[in-house]
Amino acid sequence: MSAEAEKLRNEIIAAIDAAQDMRALEDVRVAALGKKGSVSALLKTLGGMSNEERQINGPLFNALRDKLTEAIQAKKAALDSAALNARLSEETLDMTLPIAPDAQFQGRIHPVSQAMEEINAIFADMGFDVAEGPDIESQFYNFTALNIPDAHPARQMHDTFYMQAEEDGEALLLRTHTSPVQVRTMQDGQKDKSGPPFRFIAPGRTYRCDSDQTHTPMFHQVEGLVVDATTHMGHLKHTLEAFLAAFFEVENIAIRFRPSYFPFTEPSMEIDMQCHRDGDKLVVGEGNDWMEIGGSGMVNPHVLRHAGIDTEKYQGFAFGMGIDRLAMLKYGAPDLRSFFEADLRWLKHYGFVPIDVPGLAAGLSDKSLAALSADK
Ligand code: DAH
Repeated sequence: MSAEAEKLRNEIIAAIDAAQDMRALEDVRVAALGKKGSVSALLKTLGGMSNEERQINGPLFNALRDKLTEAIQAKKAALDSAALNARLSEETLDMTLPIAPDAQFQGRIHPVSQAMEEINAIFADMGFDVAEGPDIESQFYNFTALNIPDAHPARQMHDTFYMQAEEDGEALLLRTHTSPVQVRTMQDGQKDKSGPPFRFIAPGRTYRCDSDQTHTPMFHQVEGLVVDATTHMGHLKHTLEAFLAAFFEVENIAIRFRPSYFPFTEPSMEIDMQCHRDGDKLVVGEGNDWMEIGGSGMVNPHVLRHAGIDTEKYQGFAFGMGIDRLAMLKYGAPDLRSFFEADLRWLKHYGFVPIDVPGLAAGLSDKSLAALSADK
């Protein structure tokens, strides 16, 4: 390349390097490659050259133009990314701000959710699984499989919400108790070979057409089922006593079985727990009074057969308790209907602070935090 062309190249490269922004770079480009630019002028000199000179200089000048174009592109990209980085560093958000001092007191865990968490923690500690079933249930699982055949009076006792009948004439319903989860879970266990033996609880929503101070159309139950070769009523009694003492956070709670009738158990018993009334206050775990908290019994072999269990080998116990009632007793909320009125003032008073996660080691319902949340 001629000395003149080389000098021109060096000058332009230096100018590109020195350009601090897009405008300066554009000026350099126009001065070199624009119509009247220095490189364009150099290219024009090819016209006045001899053939030999042109054959040598033509490719050199063209290569010079290409190289400069490339250098300008590269510089442009570098300026672009520098501009982006500058903007990004200006627009950063400081995520290290401390949370507002009151933030953990803003939301509340509903007492029913809290009670469910506590119940799960206690039974999990005793080796129970937690099973679930659908709220919209078939008549088979809600009744027939539980030894409540068509036209059995117990079907009327349940004040059932029925859906519109399907084409086959069968109407689905909103489950009236959590007992259908017994049969579903035993069937699933047979399929995936996880049982028998079975040991699970099934907490969840249940529905009956009923409403007064102690009944709401939607409420919550927890079902329990243990099926094994030698399961007997002594196991049932101990399980319930251990659960209730843990739930009410007292040393011991005696329970009493009263003979009763449920189609899905034989024998069937109502569960009463020991308590006494101190004015308006109910004290559990002492005294000579009894309070009913659920039903129980030895699983009726018909139910086991509906679930495909060999009744020559296996027997079991079952129980069902109302979760809302347990929550009312433990946290001292007098009216069940207020549980489901979605009144924030009520929730603020009876709810639990979200960081207060129930666990057996750290305490089920931390009184100080609960008290703190009630004050807030
Ligand atoms: N399902 C019964 C009800 O809602 C409660 C119940 C009673 C459940 C006895 C059981 C049981 O598992 O053994 O009234």
